[in-house]
Amino acid sequence: MPLIFSISVRLSLFAHASEDDDFIWAVSKDDAIQPLTWNVTFGIRSPLGTPQQVLLVNGGFPGPEIPTVTNVNLQINVVNSLDEPLLFTWNGLWQRRSSWQDGVPGTNCPIPPGQNFTYFFQVKDQIGSYFYFPSTGFLKAAGGYGGLKVDNRVIIPLPYSAPDGDLFVLIGDWFNANHTDLQAQLDEGGRLGPPDGIVINGKGPFGEFISVDPGKTYRIRICNVGIATSLNFRIASHNLTVVEAEGSHTQQNSYENLDIHVGQCYSVLVTLNQAPADYYMVASSRFTDPVLNGIGVIHYSNSGSKVSGDLPPGPTIEIGFSIDQARTIMWNLTANAARPNPQGSFHYGNITVTETAVLEGTSTAINGKQRYAVNSISYQNPDTALKLADYFNIGGVFSLDFPRFPSGSSPFLGTFVLNTGYRGFLELVFQNDESIVQSWHIDGYAVFVVGSDGGRWSSASRGEYNLLNAVARSTFQVYPQSWTAVMLELDNVGLWHIRSQIWERQYLGEQLYFKVPNPDGSFRNEADIPPNALRCGQAIGH
Ligand SMILES: *[C@@H]1O[C@H](CO)[C@@H](O)[C@H](O)[C@H]1NC(C)=O
Ligand SMILES: *[C@@H]1O[C@H](CO)[C@@H](O)[C@H](O)[C@H]1NC(C)=O
Ligand SMILES: *[C@@H]1O[C@H](CO)[C@@H](O)[C@H](O)[C@H]1NC(C)=O
Ligand SMILES: *[C@@H]1O[C@H](CO)[C@@H](O)[C@H](O)[C@H]1NC(C)=O
Ligand SMILES: *[C@@H]1O[C@H](CO)[C@@H](O)[C@H](O)[C@H]1NC(C)=O
Ligand SMILES: *[C@@H]1O[C@H](CO)[C@@H](O)[C@H](O)[C@H]1NC(C)=O
Repeated sequence: MPLIFSISVRLSLFAHASEDDDFIWAVSKDDAIQPLTWNVTFGIRSPLGTPQQVLLVNGGFPGPEIPTVTNVNLQINVVNSLDEPLLFTWNGLWQRRSSWQDGVPGTNCPIPPGQNFTYFFQVKDQIGSYFYFPSTGFLKAAGGYGGLKVDNRVIIPLPYSAPDGDLFVLIGDWFNANHTDLQAQLDEGGRLGPPDGIVINGKGPFGEFISVDPGKTYRIRICNVGIATSLNFRIASHNLTVVEAEGSHTQQNSYENLDIHVGQCYSVLVTLNQAPADYYMVASSRFTDPVLNGIGVIHYSNSGSKVSGDLPPGPTIEIGFSIDQARTIMWNLTANAARPNPQGSFHYGNITVTETAVLEGTSTAINGKQRYAVNSISYQNPDTALKLADYFNIGGVFSLDFPRFPSGSSPFLGTFVLNTGYRGFLELVFQNDESIVQSWHIDGYAVFVVGSDGGRWSSASRGEYNLLNAVARSTFQVYPQSWTAVMLELDNVGLWHIRSQIWERQYLGEQLYFKVPNPDGSFRNEADIPPNALRCGQAIGH
């Protein structure tokens, strides 16, 4: 379907903006506007055979794919036809100079039922594969996700031949209980328990049937859109050549199967060079017993046979396999980034670290209820979005002194923000002393995942860092009783979310925000508050 780009039409909302509006609103008037309208409703679907309430975007589950091109201004009018507050966030896509558009409860007031809000932001300097999902309440368990791909402009060549086809395969765990039931379970102090199955593009076993042409090479963008479970993806008799991870071109290694942790996306190239037949496509749960299988079919258009026999084998509970495979995912230093210069022209390994924080996620009980905490703080969502409180100088909403290191003190409920220095170089270490595989996400940035190992991190662990070709991405796993270290240059001013992608843990407090301050208040560093920004809590009336 062709994209509708209207270059001349400007939103009336923004029509009063001055000549300098590129700086004020973090959009560019020289670049195309891609307008979208989403009506968000509940509807009944049966992903695993049991009818249940799911979240639909324009009647679809999954929601519509957003195909776009770098530098385009996306204008997405979200109409909330649900009976609860709603926001969408853009997983892995960083909002340049504008956390105002990030769509998480700390940066945006939720869209009340029956109202709408128009996101307006430019996708710039990021070509790759991402997805969106509802960030409020426990709506993520109801679906409402969709793929978002940012293609290169023609002047920027890709480090591989143009594929013959390009499609999203969204994989994720699924619960037969609806999201209100799951949320109530957590609100009452309980835990979720294991999922009921794995869905592929919202469909249960044998539901997703993808017809392909023999001899061709397809780019498949695989994202783990689930809420709790690491998955292994594979296609029988076909290798997967990984070319991209959340906006970075990787070294093009070939794999028979690929581990994808919650919230991660990869692009793989698949060449259809096997005998005409139908082949299993599998997304199976990792580190669980029993193993749950999401099963789809890759159908050669000249195939005369149906899938049969055993599923292609993959790893199940083995952690070592996953660790070894993760070490092979590296940046391609000579490949172009979103701009014509090679990715490796930014020598992150030569930049002096100016600040360090160690974030330890823990499972805990507070007031007799299950909670999760980071450095002993279990995040509590205030009525006033943090970003608005910061902008309007409303005191008492949050405190700017999030502790930089685990203290070992008893966990408590609170709203703390990690303060950082503009243009500093931050080293963030994620410590996991639990027996689960954790998945962490950072908004507003792609971060260099420089190291990961077992045990507790110490300054001596820096000797193990990959300072040459670590991949830059938004979502990274931390193995049981292990640490993962990332680095980022604090050049994107705003208030940004750090969260566990394991949604029970996020919902019950394993999240925080960090602030990158604007040194001089200039709109060149950070866009001004959008004219349509919703107000909530103490920001009402401002
Ligand atoms: C949204 O969809 C619902 C259900 O189909 C419909 O009743 C409602 O009128 C739609 N709203 C808009 C703004 O299109
Ligand atoms: C959610 O599921 C429960 C049953 O477990 C049911 O009582 C409730 O009506 C469902 N909610 C919706 C909105 O479908
Ligand atoms: C709601 O949608 C209307 C168009 O239907 C638009 O004019 C208005 O700006 C939107 N409101 C917000 C807050 O974005
Ligand atoms: C890295 O990118 C270059 C340039 O586009 C490409 O020729 C090369 O094959 C890639 N290297 C690997 C290991 O993928
Ligand atoms: C897949 O890659 C492995 C090596 O990693 C190789 O042995 C095998 O032949 C490849 N299979 C296909 C179908 O290309
Ligand atoms: C640091 O810079 C030097 C000189 O430009 C270069 O030779 C070296 O490879 C760089 N090291 C890293 C880790 O980027």
